Formats: sequence, C-alpha cells, structure tokens
Amino acid sequence: MAERARASSAHISPSAHYTGYVWYRHQLAEPAFATDFGRWVHALLKPITWGARAGFGIDLENLLLQRHLLIDQRLTDAIERGGVTQVVEIACGLSPRGRRFTARYPALRYIEADLSVMAARKRLLLQSQGWLTAQHQVKVVDIIPNAGADSLAGLFAGLDHSKPVLVITEGLVNYFELPVIEGFWTRLAAQLKQFPQATYLTELYPDLHEHPRYRQLRWGVKLVGYLTRGSYPLHYRDPAQIVGGFQRCGFSAVSVLDPNQFASSLGLSPPRVPGLVRVIEARC
Ligand SMILES: C[S@@+](CC[C@H](N)C(=O)[O-])C[C@H]1O[C@@H](n2cnc3c(N)ncnc32)[C@H](O)[C@@H]1O
Repeated sequence: MAERARASSAHISPSAHYTGYVWYRHQLAEPAFATDFGRWVHALLKPITWGARAGFGIDLENLLLQRHLLIDQRLTDAIERGGVTQVVEIACGLSPRGRRFTARYPALRYIEADLSVMAARKRLLLQSQGWLTAQHQVKVVDIIPNAGADSLAGLFAGLDHSKPVLVITEGLVNYFELPVIEGFWTRLAAQLKQFPQATYLTELYPDLHEHPRYRQLRWGVKLVGYLTRGSYPLHYRDPAQIVGGFQRCGFSAVSVLDPNQFASSLGLSPPRVPGLVRVIEARC
C-alpha cells in the first residue's frame, strides 16, 4: 500500500499551482508565487466554483482561506506566546507562508519541504527573489518512506533538538488513505517526541455524513480526485474519532478547531453552511 501511495503521490503536485494562485489572488502572496498553470486551472474551474457557491453556498476559495488563515493564526500564537523558534512546513508547494513569516519574524528558522521536483521549483522561486537565507531553506521530503535521505528522519536531523518545534501540513493529508496517513502521523509523532515541546498543525476534511451539503461534498471530493488522478478520502466522522486517531498515532493533546467559529477574527465573511474543514492542533 505504501509503495502504491508513493508512486501516485507526485500526481498531487499540480494542485499546488491552484492553491498558490488562490493565495496570490487574496493578497497573501507576491506575484512570484502565481504560475501560468495555476491561473489557467483557476479560470477552468471558475464555472464549477461559481455554481457551488451560488447553488449550494459552498465557497471553495473561502474554504481554502479558512484553513490557511487559521493555521497562520495558530502559528502566530505559537511564535509570539509559545516560544516556537523553528517551523517545518511539509508539502509546502507554492505556499507563501514561509516567505511571509520569515519576513515578519527574521530570527525564525523556517524549513519548507516537498517532493524533489516541487522542492526544486520552490527553492528556485525563493532564490530568484533573494528570499532564501540560512534561516529559510527548502528541503526534499517524502512523507511515505520509513527511512532514507528523503524521509522524515532526514528532514528533522538538521533541527535544534533542544528547542520547541512546530510542523505544518496543509492540503496534504486527504490525498492519502487513512492507514497511509496514520503511518505518516505515527512517524511524525516519533520525531516530535525528541523535542522539548512540539506542535503539529494540519487541516483535515472529515466524513461529515450529517452535513446538509454532504452530497455536494462527495461530488467535490470526486472532482478533486479526478483532477489529481487519485482519490480524496475523507477521514473520521466526528471530533471524538479525530482525537482518538491522533492519540493512537502518538499525539497526547489534540484540539479540533472549526474555522467557521473563527470567521470574524480571520477577517472572513460569516459562514453560509456548517463547516466542512477542521484544523487540528496536536501536541507531543
Ligand atoms: C494541494 S498541494 C498543497 C500545497 C501547499 N501546502 C498549499 O496549501 O498551497 C499538495 C502538496 O503536497 C505535496 N506532496 C504530495 N505527495 C507528497 C509526499 N509524499 N511527501 C511530501 N509532499 C507531498 C505536493 O508536491 C504538493 O506540493
């Protein structure tokens, strides 16, 4: 199963162009982060995203902004109040978060990581703008293998194990079947236990059977799977299952946050439908 997930995982990378373009459109990124491909996919999907918004009250871009901004908010809190000085963003894609946070906190160590082709692209992008520094680097990682140069162990080896760390994944976990992603979370928790304090932030799309837009959610999930030539499984049915799942993987304290409840502090419009995405804050 791991080998299959690994082989198909590179097909996920083009989706980073779409989200990268969305961050740019909403003034979260400089123009260098917007690619022609991202712009093209955004234009192609416009009739569908418009229809989902007008017909069902599901606003895809708002959904993406909810997760992105709530992760930003929790990260800001961890830096300003939790003493976090090093951040690892796995599956960084074309996200501008590393750029924004290193500009805002020059002493922050920020490691971005992705599969080799995307990591090379991101490194080039940051280098061409003069944004790569000793504090802000891009590394190669593949979340699937247990060992080897591109594994999690290799990525964490270069960090200061005497200081707190915060790890982010965004737009990654629902591309994998639950056993595969739980394998990753278990290996991640094992790495994080080597630090005096460690936090993991991720977004997660649960399987919300009771949601009034569940049918449309299933269509959306099929579309994402079709576009990325894979699948987009939804994980866990409620907060209790989420907490249980993360605890089984080795995390001790798990909070399940519904971005709908943070809309005003995130500067987003009031939600039209119950939340579809959750942000998980898990500690070791
Ligand atoms: C939807 S994009 C999200 C990018 C970025 N985090 C964002 O929110 O804009 C998914 C990212 O996951 C990366 N990815 C896919 N499989 C991976 C794996 N096995 N290990 C690490 N990253 C992976 C892709 O290359 C891509 O950059």
